[in-house]
Amino acid sequence: MINDELNNDYTGPFFYNGWYHLFYQYNADSAVWGNITWAHAVSRDLIHWLHLPFAMVPDQWYDINGVWTGSATILPDGRIVMLYTGDTRDEVQVQCLAYPANLSDPLLIDWVKDSSNPVLFPPPGIGSKDFRDPTTAWLSPDGDKWRITIGSKVNKTGISLIYETKDFIEYELWEEYLHQVPGTGMWECVDFYPVSLTEENGLDTSANGAGIKHVLKTSLDDDKNDYYAIGVYDSIKNKWTPDDPEIDVGIGLRYDYGTYYASKTFYDQNTQRRILWGWIRETDAESVDLLKGWSGVQVLYLATILSKKPNITLINTSKAQILLNLSCMQSIPRSIVMDKKTGKNILQWPVEEVDSLRLRKGSVEINDVKLAPGALIQLAIDSPSQLDLVATFDIDEEIASASASASEDNMSYECSTSGGAANRGVLGPFGVIVLADDILSELTPIYFYVVKGSNGNTHTHFCADELRSSKANDVEKIVCGSEVPVLDGEKLSLRSLVDHSIVESFAQGGRRVITSRVYPTKAINSAARVFLFNNATEATVTASIKIWKMDSADIHPFPFDHI
Ligand code: FRU
Repeated sequence: MINDELNNDYTGPFFYNGWYHLFYQYNADSAVWGNITWAHAVSRDLIHWLHLPFAMVPDQWYDINGVWTGSATILPDGRIVMLYTGDTRDEVQVQCLAYPANLSDPLLIDWVKDSSNPVLFPPPGIGSKDFRDPTTAWLSPDGDKWRITIGSKVNKTGISLIYETKDFIEYELWEEYLHQVPGTGMWECVDFYPVSLTEENGLDTSANGAGIKHVLKTSLDDDKNDYYAIGVYDSIKNKWTPDDPEIDVGIGLRYDYGTYYASKTFYDQNTQRRILWGWIRETDAESVDLLKGWSGVQVLYLATILSKKPNITLINTSKAQILLNLSCMQSIPRSIVMDKKTGKNILQWPVEEVDSLRLRKGSVEINDVKLAPGALIQLAIDSPSQLDLVATFDIDEEIASASASASEDNMSYECSTSGGAANRGVLGPFGVIVLADDILSELTPIYFYVVKGSNGNTHTHFCADELRSSKANDVEKIVCGSEVPVLDGEKLSLRSLVDHSIVESFAQGGRRVITSRVYPTKAINSAARVFLFNNATEATVTASIKIWKMDSADIHPFPFDHI
């Protein structure tokens, strides 16, 4: 019998003894959520993966309704502590402790749940269904206690509770919250970590002091987006304060302006990077997921399904293309650093290991091509549905100045309400079109739209337009994006990783990111086309672009013959 399957959050990542470990919320029984188990996979390079047996299944009274999301902490003596949320037989959310059964097993295949579980119940005043997703622990200033934060809500105020522990079994609750934001609702999958204002590398979760700020991130249950803010952590008061209250957690910046949720970072002590992963939700109907028999994008998991269901595309009513070969699982892992130039946002960038999939043969490079208003140039690329694309754009300055007043009334431009790439303005849109068919009946444009006010101030928006991304009508199609900071002297730049039905796009070195989950029905495999376009009415744009055809990652089901 072939089971239907689902995956959601990825959880508990860490690097240990030469292997990256990744776990993810998994339902082996249905394409809709339920019966949540921890599936487990390992990789040496974040690209090629081996499936392992499930690490934890719902088999105890305290997690019989699901082994939910959690985080790993590597202790100074090398032990690994895994905290996760259990949903009890009475559907109460509790925190539980687990660890690898045998630290000398290089793959850490077996996991043990601690006999003192559950180690934390919802405290007074916190709803039994509003207490989940413990973070990686960090050390208190005197180094004798560990601290974790757990998301919750009180009425409509999203909060993050702080606990202290010496042994991960007994905990003390701090009276005050780490932070709270009215109106944001339940905070899921909170993440809290330091970023350096001076160094290029990532920081261990316990790092603090001069030249360090802290990022607080929450996944808002109410709108299914991941929000973050940068601020200062006072480790004595155990309080985090945003640099700018106007762009506080949950009301300001998003990690990703597309489809991206329940993300989590970990510190990779091997390469001194902080690495971020997120779950790319389906944006089709649940009924379609049930028919196609899977939901939740994660390549490793799809590889398994495909081996069991070779004809899966035939049973998918929206005929969505599902072969995601490019890399890893969930989203492509991103390294995170502070943007030292703006001081106001982080930079997210695909981990450099992804570059190892770039194939030299078949790459295309075009430099300084002039795109007149209305220009559309097709790029002859082999394997156009699996590629890495880097492009820069420069607007002709004279026209930009002359057109200032003409675009003035557009200062309120927003990607989501703009009507997409077909809506022409004086200075935009221009960018790339991916996953298009020959006659442009299906296409996903990724673009910039520039607006210049009468005072000469320029505002640049970075958008992705899914409106015509699929002929299927049972999928969500939106225009998404955000204004992106562009500093003096900078060209507009974007990078898009295209993987059949996912496009992850990064603007200005990763200041803004948009993940598009699209379901092309015609622009698939070799039928897909790539274009440069300029749909501005007046501006001429000079563009340079390099495109690599990408190799596929190796994903091995368990058991495997050799490592
Ligand atoms: C986020 C989430 C978490 C929870 C898990 C359950 O998507 O709802 O809050 O722990 O998924 O699968």
